[in-house]
Amino acid sequence: MSVVNIRIAKPYQERCGFYGKTGTGKSNCMAYCLQRTKCKFILIDMEGVHNWTPLDPSRQTIIQGKRGMDKQALLMQVLHKVMNEKYYILAVEGIDAFQTNRWLPPDLADFVQYGRNYKWGRSSLWVAFRRCADVHKSIIANIDHHFIFRSFEPNDVHNYYRRFLGKEVALRLQSLPDYHFYYWNPPRSPVLSSPVKSVI
Ligand SMILES: Nc1ncnc2c1ncn2[C@@H]1O[C@H](COP(=O)(O)OP(=O)(O)OP(=O)(O)O)[C@@H](O)[C@H]1O
Ligand SMILES: [Mg+2]
Repeated sequence: MSVVNIRIAKPYQERCGFYGKTGTGKSNCMAYCLQRTKCKFILIDMEGVHNWTPLDPSRQTIIQGKRGMDKQALLMQVLHKVMNEKYYILAVEGIDAFQTNRWLPPDLADFVQYGRNYKWGRSSLWVAFRRCADVHKSIIANIDHHFIFRSFEPNDVHNYYRRFLGKEVALRLQSLPDYHFYYWNPPRSPVLSSPVKSVI
């Protein structure tokens, strides 16, 4: 087994989601992918784990959250910049901190729905989160590249993974070795991947 071949043909349109239980390698994988692109991006890192320097700091920004910061205000500020300036990857660590499974901030809802359209500037959204059950279905439904790490939680396994990926893959997700993941780019079948290099 080796690291799966990942090709994102239209990085300002195709969306990525990194999800799975805590400590399974989501943030590292997101960093690994962002470190390999020359695309413009803004990464909102409320969790303070992305202490690395982008390839092109003039076009690639990591915003670290600070204790007591108004998270929603920060997200809105970044979202408006991305919408106005166009052609960004907006990456959000811990998207669950900004929304619930039933509520998206209105501008984020628009971005999720219209981000690919020219009017909104063809920007894409990358998200990392721990549990599908905590994330709004509009976000999950619009992910093109899924990086799915070990997960045990029965609601996630049976109500999400099993429905998306079938029983066999859903059950294998419960016992994936450290930092392994399934890469799924529908309508292709999910592919099991070795860990990417450790970069954070
Ligand atoms: N591919 C890898 N190879 C070796 N070590 C790794 C790899 N991926 C992650 N790690 C290590 O495992 C730890 C957890 O990784 P990471 O922060 O990416 O997990 P996470 O899924 O984002 O966790 P959390 O849900 O808590 O944010 C880190 O210390 C990281 O260095
Ligand atoms: Mg993380």
